[in-house]
Amino acid sequence: MGYINLALRMAREAGGLIKDYVDGDFKVEEKSSKADLVTEVDQKSESFIRNRIHEYYPEHKIIGEEGVAGGEDVNAVAESDDYIWIIDPIDGTTNFVHGLPGYTISLALSYKKQVILGVIYDPNLDEMFWAEKGKGAFLNNNRLTVSENDDLEGCVLATGYPSDVKGDRAKVINTINTLGPVCGNIRTFGSAALHLAYVAAGRMEGFWEQGLNVWDVAAGYLLVNEAGGTATAITGETYNLTTRGLVASNGHIHKNLVESINVND
Ligand code: IPD
Ligand code: CA
Repeated sequence: MGYINLALRMAREAGGLIKDYVDGDFKVEEKSSKADLVTEVDQKSESFIRNRIHEYYPEHKIIGEEGVAGGEDVNAVAESDDYIWIIDPIDGTTNFVHGLPGYTISLALSYKKQVILGVIYDPNLDEMFWAEKGKGAFLNNNRLTVSENDDLEGCVLATGYPSDVKGDRAKVINTINTLGPVCGNIRTFGSAALHLAYVAAGRMEGFWEQGLNVWDVAAGYLLVNEAGGTATAITGETYNLTTRGLVASNGHIHKNLVESINVND
């Protein structure tokens, strides 16, 4: 099976697996704090995806959010020229734990340190966002383009609240104070991947967040680019697989966003 078909199939199947647990009992554990959760469903979703990749491409490397605790060195893998699958088995675990919608499965494939494929699946709305490098971005079968809006006053932005409350979350809140009074509105749906998919789909004009991980953003980074938008590090520098703070936009408001965020840093 080709890479994109495998990724689309894994995302859809993992979505089904996750939804089967929604109203049932599942174990929830704290990772670094009460604001950083993992459930047995995250782990089952990731194991399922890892097994599928091993079945088809046993020579490929894998970085998965829940597997990192098992010793994968994200920075070392990100320096490698090999094929690397990047898995967030549930992006938006807090939503999932609280019975809220707005969680996704985010899968990317990188080769020679470039993201070449990205898939973000929202199982609640059955929306499959996907992109291949150089071939465009899609929602189900429809081509995506970013919004044309260049006036910040009419723009909808998104951000998230990182689990590092005193560090990264404080930075996000400072930027909300800067951008809140001058933009159309700000949303926090609770999944960085979903926010990036929505920027690619032209549903919102921009997204930023500090303290993210490669599994939260690799797929969305490609989607935004392939839909005609711009995604960079918070500093405005080029994105790479170790970038932790990301700004993504329709391109028209990018400079303005980068400047507004860096006023506080
Ligand atoms: C989280 C979500 C959330 C963002 C957090 C991430 P997770 O990922 O993307 O929107 O604000 O910073 O950690 O833990 O649910 O995979
Ligand atoms: Ca996750």
